[in-house]
Amino acid sequence: MALVVSDAPAFGSAEWWEARYRSGDIPWDTGIVPPEVEALISSGQVARGWALDLGCGSGVSSRYLAQHGFHVVGVDLAQSALVRGHRAAQAAGLSVLFCRGDVSSLGFLRVRATLALDIGCFHALSPERRPSYVTSLAHHLVPGAFYLLYAFEPFQHEGETAPRGAGPTDIGRFAPYFVLQWAQHGRDGERPAAWYLFRRSALSVRSSPLQTA
Ligand SMILES: C[S@@+](CC[C@H](N)C(=O)[O-])C[C@H]1O[C@@H](n2cnc3c(N)ncnc32)[C@H](O)[C@@H]1O
Repeated sequence: MALVVSDAPAFGSAEWWEARYRSGDIPWDTGIVPPEVEALISSGQVARGWALDLGCGSGVSSRYLAQHGFHVVGVDLAQSALVRGHRAAQAAGLSVLFCRGDVSSLGFLRVRATLALDIGCFHALSPERRPSYVTSLAHHLVPGAFYLLYAFEPFQHEGETAPRGAGPTDIGRFAPYFVLQWAQHGRDGERPAAWYLFRRSALSVRSSPLQTA
Protein backbone atom coordinates (compact mmCIF):
# COMPACT_ATOMS: atom_id res chain seq x y z
CA MET A 1 0.00 0.00 0.00
CA ALA A 2 1.43 3.39 -1.00
CA LEU A 3 1.74 6.04 1.72
CA VAL A 4 0.79 9.47 0.39
CA VAL A 5 2.58 12.27 2.20
CA SER A 6 1.39 15.80 1.52
CA ASP A 7 3.55 18.88 2.02
CA ALA A 8 0.50 21.11 1.97
CA PRO A 9 -0.05 22.87 5.30
CA ALA A 10 -3.05 21.74 7.32
CA PHE A 11 -6.21 23.80 7.01
CA GLY A 12 -6.30 26.49 9.69
CA SER A 13 -2.60 26.29 10.60
CA ALA A 14 -0.47 29.43 10.65
CA GLU A 15 1.34 28.13 7.57
CA TRP A 16 -1.95 27.61 5.75
CA TRP A 17 -3.09 31.19 6.39
CA GLU A 18 0.33 32.60 5.58
CA ALA A 19 0.32 30.73 2.26
CA ARG A 20 -3.11 32.18 1.42
CA TYR A 21 -1.86 35.73 1.97
CA ARG A 22 1.38 35.14 0.07
CA SER A 23 -0.43 33.63 -2.91
CA GLY A 24 -3.01 36.42 -2.95
CA ASP A 25 -5.83 33.88 -2.62
CA ILE A 26 -7.68 36.03 -0.09
CA PRO A 27 -11.21 36.69 -1.35
CA TRP A 28 -12.26 38.00 2.07
CA ASP A 29 -9.75 40.85 1.87
CA THR A 30 -12.03 43.26 0.05
CA GLY A 31 -10.92 46.45 1.78
CA ILE A 32 -14.54 47.04 2.80
CA VAL A 33 -15.59 47.53 6.40
CA PRO A 34 -18.68 45.35 6.93
CA PRO A 35 -21.86 47.42 7.29
CA GLU A 36 -22.61 45.44 10.48
CA VAL A 37 -19.44 46.87 12.04
CA GLU A 38 -20.29 50.39 10.91
CA ALA A 39 -23.84 50.06 12.24
CA LEU A 40 -22.68 48.91 15.67
CA ILE A 41 -20.17 51.73 16.00
CA SER A 42 -22.54 54.40 14.75
CA SER A 43 -25.26 53.15 17.13
CA GLY A 44 -23.33 54.84 19.92
CA GLN A 45 -23.82 51.82 22.23
CA VAL A 46 -20.17 50.85 22.50
CA ALA A 47 -18.06 52.70 25.06
CA ARG A 48 -14.71 53.82 23.68
CA GLY A 49 -11.75 51.93 25.14
CA TRP A 50 -9.70 49.01 23.92
CA ALA A 51 -10.99 47.01 20.96
CA LEU A 52 -9.78 43.59 19.85
CA ASP A 53 -9.88 42.59 16.18
CA LEU A 54 -9.48 38.80 16.34
CA GLY A 55 -8.10 37.34 13.14
CA CYS A 56 -7.65 40.89 11.90
CA GLY A 57 -6.08 39.96 8.56
CA SER A 58 -4.78 43.09 6.84
CA GLY A 59 -6.55 45.23 9.42
CA VAL A 60 -9.37 46.91 7.50
CA SER A 61 -11.72 46.85 10.49
CA SER A 62 -8.86 47.58 12.90
CA ARG A 63 -8.17 50.84 11.09
CA TYR A 64 -11.85 51.71 11.04
CA LEU A 65 -12.05 51.25 14.82
CA ALA A 66 -8.92 53.36 15.34
CA GLN A 67 -10.51 56.11 13.24
CA HIS A 68 -13.52 55.93 15.53
CA GLY A 69 -11.73 56.50 18.80
CA PHE A 70 -10.72 53.01 19.97
CA HIS A 71 -7.30 51.80 21.07
CA VAL A 72 -7.04 48.79 18.80
CA VAL A 73 -5.20 45.49 19.02
CA GLY A 74 -5.31 43.37 15.88
CA VAL A 75 -4.34 39.73 16.41
CA ASP A 76 -3.53 37.31 13.60
CA LEU A 77 -1.37 34.28 12.85
CA ALA A 78 -0.31 35.45 9.39
CA GLN A 79 2.75 37.66 9.46
CA SER A 80 2.22 38.92 5.88
CA ALA A 81 -1.26 40.15 6.75
CA LEU A 82 0.02 41.91 9.85
CA VAL A 83 2.79 43.65 7.93
CA ARG A 84 0.27 44.90 5.41
CA GLY A 85 -2.01 46.08 8.18
CA HIS A 86 0.82 47.87 9.95
CA ARG A 87 1.92 49.66 6.76
CA ALA A 88 -1.61 50.72 5.88
CA ALA A 89 -2.21 52.05 9.40
CA GLN A 90 1.06 53.99 9.30
CA ALA A 91 0.20 55.43 5.89
CA ALA A 92 -3.16 56.56 7.28
CA GLY A 93 -1.57 58.06 10.40
CA LEU A 94 -3.44 55.62 12.63
CA SER A 95 -2.15 53.89 15.73
CA VAL A 96 -3.04 50.18 15.76
CA LEU A 97 -1.15 47.51 17.68
CA PHE A 98 -0.78 44.47 15.42
CA CYS A 99 0.25 41.30 17.25
CA ARG A 100 1.14 37.90 15.90
CA GLY A 101 -0.67 35.46 18.14
CA ASP A 102 -3.32 32.80 18.47
CA VAL A 103 -6.81 34.07 19.21
CA SER A 104 -7.52 30.99 21.31
CA SER A 105 -4.80 31.99 23.75
CA LEU A 106 -4.76 35.73 24.39
CA GLY A 107 -2.65 35.56 27.54
CA PHE A 108 -0.04 37.83 25.92
CA LEU A 109 -2.54 40.73 26.07
CA ARG A 110 -2.73 42.86 29.19
CA VAL A 111 -5.83 44.82 28.23
CA ARG A 112 -9.54 44.44 28.87
CA ALA A 113 -11.60 45.66 25.98
CA THR A 114 -15.04 47.20 25.52
CA LEU A 115 -15.37 45.66 22.06
CA ALA A 116 -14.18 42.59 20.17
CA LEU A 117 -14.69 41.75 16.52
CA ASP A 118 -14.23 38.39 14.87
CA ILE A 119 -14.91 38.45 11.17
CA GLY A 120 -14.24 35.01 9.80
CA CYS A 121 -11.73 33.62 12.27
CA PHE A 122 -13.58 31.62 14.97
CA HIS A 123 -15.30 29.39 12.41
CA ALA A 124 -11.91 28.22 11.11
CA LEU A 125 -10.56 27.15 14.51
CA SER A 126 -10.30 23.45 15.23
CA PRO A 127 -12.96 22.14 17.63
CA GLU A 128 -10.29 21.67 20.35
CA ARG A 129 -9.37 25.36 20.31
CA ARG A 130 -12.87 26.75 20.51
CA PRO A 131 -13.46 26.39 24.28
CA SER A 132 -10.24 28.22 25.12
CA TYR A 133 -11.06 30.91 22.55
CA VAL A 134 -14.30 31.60 24.44
CA THR A 135 -12.77 31.73 27.92
CA SER A 136 -9.73 33.70 26.78
CA LEU A 137 -11.94 36.24 25.04
CA ALA A 138 -14.27 36.47 28.05
CA HIS A 139 -11.26 37.12 30.25
CA HIS A 140 -10.18 40.06 28.07
CA LEU A 141 -13.50 41.88 27.96
CA VAL A 142 -15.06 44.15 30.56
CA PRO A 143 -18.61 43.37 31.74
CA GLY A 144 -21.04 44.88 29.23
CA ALA A 145 -18.49 44.77 26.39
CA PHE A 146 -19.79 44.00 22.91
CA TYR A 147 -18.58 41.09 20.77
CA LEU A 148 -19.52 40.99 17.09
CA LEU A 149 -18.96 37.66 15.34
CA TYR A 150 -19.29 36.72 11.69
CA ALA A 151 -19.08 33.01 10.98
CA PHE A 152 -19.97 30.46 8.35
CA GLU A 153 -22.58 28.02 9.54
CA PRO A 154 -21.74 24.33 9.14
CA PHE A 155 -21.07 23.29 5.54
CA GLN A 156 -19.47 20.29 3.91
CA HIS A 157 -16.09 20.95 2.34
CA GLU A 158 -15.17 18.74 -0.58
CA GLY A 159 -13.15 15.70 0.44
CA GLU A 160 -13.67 16.16 4.20
CA THR A 161 -15.86 14.12 6.50
CA ALA A 162 -16.35 16.66 9.32
CA PRO A 163 -18.22 19.84 8.41
CA ARG A 164 -16.48 23.22 8.63
CA GLY A 165 -18.05 26.31 10.16
CA ALA A 166 -19.72 27.14 13.46
CA GLY A 167 -23.13 25.79 14.42
CA PRO A 168 -25.52 26.14 17.35
CA THR A 169 -23.27 24.07 19.63
CA ASP A 170 -20.41 26.50 19.02
CA ILE A 171 -22.60 29.52 19.56
CA GLY A 172 -23.87 27.91 22.77
CA ARG A 173 -20.30 27.78 24.03
CA PHE A 174 -20.40 31.56 24.60
CA ALA A 175 -22.92 31.17 27.46
CA PRO A 176 -22.70 32.00 30.33
CA TYR A 177 -20.00 34.62 29.75
CA PHE A 178 -21.92 36.22 26.89
CA VAL A 179 -25.56 37.08 26.28
CA LEU A 180 -26.70 36.88 22.68
CA GLN A 181 -28.34 40.16 21.59
CA TRP A 182 -29.27 39.11 18.07
CA ALA A 183 -28.34 36.80 15.22
CA GLN A 184 -28.80 37.44 11.50
CA HIS A 185 -28.65 34.36 9.28
CA GLY A 186 -27.97 34.62 5.58
CA ARG A 187 -25.63 33.36 2.88
CA ASP A 188 -22.11 34.20 1.80
CA GLY A 189 -22.12 32.99 -1.79
CA GLU A 190 -22.91 29.28 -1.58
CA ARG A 191 -22.33 29.04 2.16
CA PRO A 192 -24.71 29.68 5.03
CA ALA A 193 -23.35 32.38 7.29
CA ALA A 194 -24.47 34.50 10.23
CA TRP A 195 -23.69 37.61 12.21
CA TYR A 196 -24.04 37.46 16.01
CA LEU A 197 -23.90 40.29 18.51
CA PHE A 198 -23.11 39.31 22.11
CA ARG A 199 -22.59 41.26 25.31
CA ARG A 200 -20.19 40.16 28.00
CA SER A 201 -21.99 39.16 31.17
CA ALA A 202 -20.66 40.00 34.62
CA LEU A 203 -19.64 36.38 35.37
CA SER A 204 -15.94 36.17 36.14
CA VAL A 205 -14.06 33.51 34.20
CA ARG A 206 -12.14 32.50 37.30
CA SER A 207 -15.24 32.15 39.45
CA SER A 208 -17.08 30.05 36.88
CA PRO A 209 -17.65 26.43 37.92
CA LEU A 210 -17.32 25.47 34.24
CA GLN A 211 -13.89 26.72 33.16
CA THR A 212 -10.78 28.46 34.35
CA ALA A 213 -9.14 31.25 32.34
C1 LIG B 1 -11.16 34.86 6.67
S1 LIG B 1 -9.80 35.74 7.27
C2 LIG B 1 -10.57 37.25 7.81
C3 LIG B 1 -9.60 38.38 8.04
C4 LIG B 1 -10.23 39.68 8.49
N1 LIG B 1 -11.01 39.53 9.71
C5 LIG B 1 -11.08 40.27 7.40
O1 LIG B 1 -12.29 40.34 7.57
O2 LIG B 1 -10.52 40.64 6.37
C6 LIG B 1 -9.45 34.91 8.83
C7 LIG B 1 -8.21 35.44 9.51
O3 LIG B 1 -8.05 34.79 10.75
C8 LIG B 1 -6.67 34.50 10.94
N2 LIG B 1 -6.59 33.37 11.87
C9 LIG B 1 -7.04 32.11 11.67
N3 LIG B 1 -6.83 31.35 12.77
C10 LIG B 1 -6.23 32.16 13.68
C11 LIG B 1 -5.78 31.97 15.01
N4 LIG B 1 -5.88 30.78 15.63
N5 LIG B 1 -5.23 33.02 15.65
C12 LIG B 1 -5.11 34.21 15.04
N6 LIG B 1 -5.53 34.46 13.77
C13 LIG B 1 -6.09 33.44 13.11
C14 LIG B 1 -6.15 34.22 9.54
O4 LIG B 1 -4.75 34.37 9.41
C15 LIG B 1 -6.93 35.23 8.70
O5 LIG B 1 -6.26 36.44 8.58
